[in-house]
Amino acid sequence: MQHQPDFSPAADRNKQPILDMLLRVLAPQGSALEIASGTGQHAAWFAAGLPGWAWQPTEVQPEALASILAWTRSQGLANVRPPMLLDVASPDSWPADAQFDLVYCANLIHIAPWPVCAALMRASARLLAARGKLITYGPYLESDIATSEGNIAFDASLKQRNPAWGLRALDEVAQEAASAGLRLAGRHALPANNLLLVWERAEH
Ligand SMILES: C[S@@+](CC[C@H](N)C(=O)[O-])C[C@H]1O[C@@H](n2cnc3c(N)ncnc32)[C@H](O)[C@@H]1O
Repeated sequence: MQHQPDFSPAADRNKQPILDMLLRVLAPQGSALEIASGTGQHAAWFAAGLPGWAWQPTEVQPEALASILAWTRSQGLANVRPPMLLDVASPDSWPADAQFDLVYCANLIHIAPWPVCAALMRASARLLAARGKLITYGPYLESDIATSEGNIAFDASLKQRNPAWGLRALDEVAQEAASAGLRLAGRHALPANNLLLVWERAEH
């Protein structure tokens, strides 16, 4: 029997604004490693909207893989690989020797303990091709921009669920990126006070 895919209303709302930005910042073709694919809605939408890209979804939760597969199979997409298990915090679960033009990671670093951010930066720097990009998407705290009331409430609700979670300061994320050899190359404001951030190798 076909697995009933999980549904995230937020992923349904933000998939098109994110895709519009990916179409602006990415080359027409390449290979992408998606981290924390969740339900698989993003993988299916982006692979359909970026037909020149080979998309590799991943998730830390084994039970999520069936949903990712169901979303991507239902579209009959030839450019999505079967989802893989990947725990950002576990170096051994990252691909050993592959290279990617894009590492894409949405809505993870505020819903994970802080060391996951450093782990994401380090592994991405290792796996990205010379001109590759790490793209992160989600809400951030910015020193020079007032945090929206919605994001303040979201931060409080995250910390209530798990004291190790919470919105991250963009400056501190950028420091972790710099330690891994990455720099912030683009900051794009998207709906609902989310940012799409483009990180590239510091030498470019
Ligand atoms: C809020 S969901 C975001 C899902 C999807 N990226 C989106 O934006 O709709 C956060 C996801 O991060 C995953 N996650 C949490 N910790 C992780 C880790 N250490 N490594 C990989 N994924 C992780 C969770 O399983 C969950 O699917």
